Amino acid sequence: MTRRRVYDGKTKVLYEGPEPDTLVQHFKDDATAFNKEKHAIIEGRGVLNNRISEYLLTCLNNLGIQTHFIRALNMREQLIRKLDILPVEVVVRNMAAGSLCKRLGLEEGESLPRSIVEFYYKSDSLGDPMISEEHITAFGWASHQEMDEVMSLALRANDVLSGLFLAVGLHLVDFKLEFGRLNDEDASPRLLIADEISPDSCRLWDVATKNRMDKDLFRRDMGGLIEAYKEVARRLGVYVDQIGEGRKKPALWEVKKQG
Ligand code: TMP
Ligand code: ASP
Repeated sequence: MTRRRVYDGKTKVLYEGPEPDTLVQHFKDDATAFNKEKHAIIEGRGVLNNRISEYLLTCLNNLGIQTHFIRALNMREQLIRKLDILPVEVVVRNMAAGSLCKRLGLEEGESLPRSIVEFYYKSDSLGDPMISEEHITAFGWASHQEMDEVMSLALRANDVLSGLFLAVGLHLVDFKLEFGRLNDEDASPRLLIADEISPDSCRLWDVATKNRMDKDLFRRDMGGLIEAYKEVARRLGVYVDQIGEGRKKPALWEVKKQG
């Protein structure tokens, strides 16, 4: 059975879903960094990110912080709601790392006076430049009211995720979220968390050793990415020992469709 591919991204593919207003999000093994300057295929990475993201988005959904995640389909795929994605990446920072250190001359690991939320314009050709809420509202990418919702959802998600990771010995140093508008016929549009939350989109440092357990291992050529992602999955209690097997069985919804 062929499925209609609606988007082929750097690390994920989106297919038309089996129900109206749904999509199938497929996690590839491709890893990219620095706007695709670095690219590699790391066997098992897609399966781990799918699994970890599925778990974290389910936790948020269960706590009333709504996300696009509907249900798991198979090792590499999940069923999600089709949203109108805002062209904005929202980064929440709890400790100084990455581009914040470069920009402000801070030491990695320095504590911050409080959690900081930043916005970036989603544009590969421009290299995702940092923007302010002024740009977002002036160019009509989101309204003032929606930005209040983005701030509130991002900070609530940060509280939940920071606690969840700390309980398994990991500092959530920073992470990136995407948001999308759900156009519900019966209600006014509302914002949901979209995309993925995984060691690709978070910085996770082991509390005891300060070892990095995230995509910085790839960005900085440190090696050991799969072992670190497996360890994150294990600590969260979602590791399945079939990682790297690839997709052998048809997706559940394909089975259903085939009748
Ligand atoms: P940064 O320090 O490079 O700005 O990254 C902040 C956080 O956002 C970090 O957890 C990694 C994540 N991130 C993405 O998920 N995608 C991206 O394209 C970038 C630049 C960062
Ligand atoms: N996600 C970006 C890329 O794929 C950059 C990054 O995560 O470092 O190029």
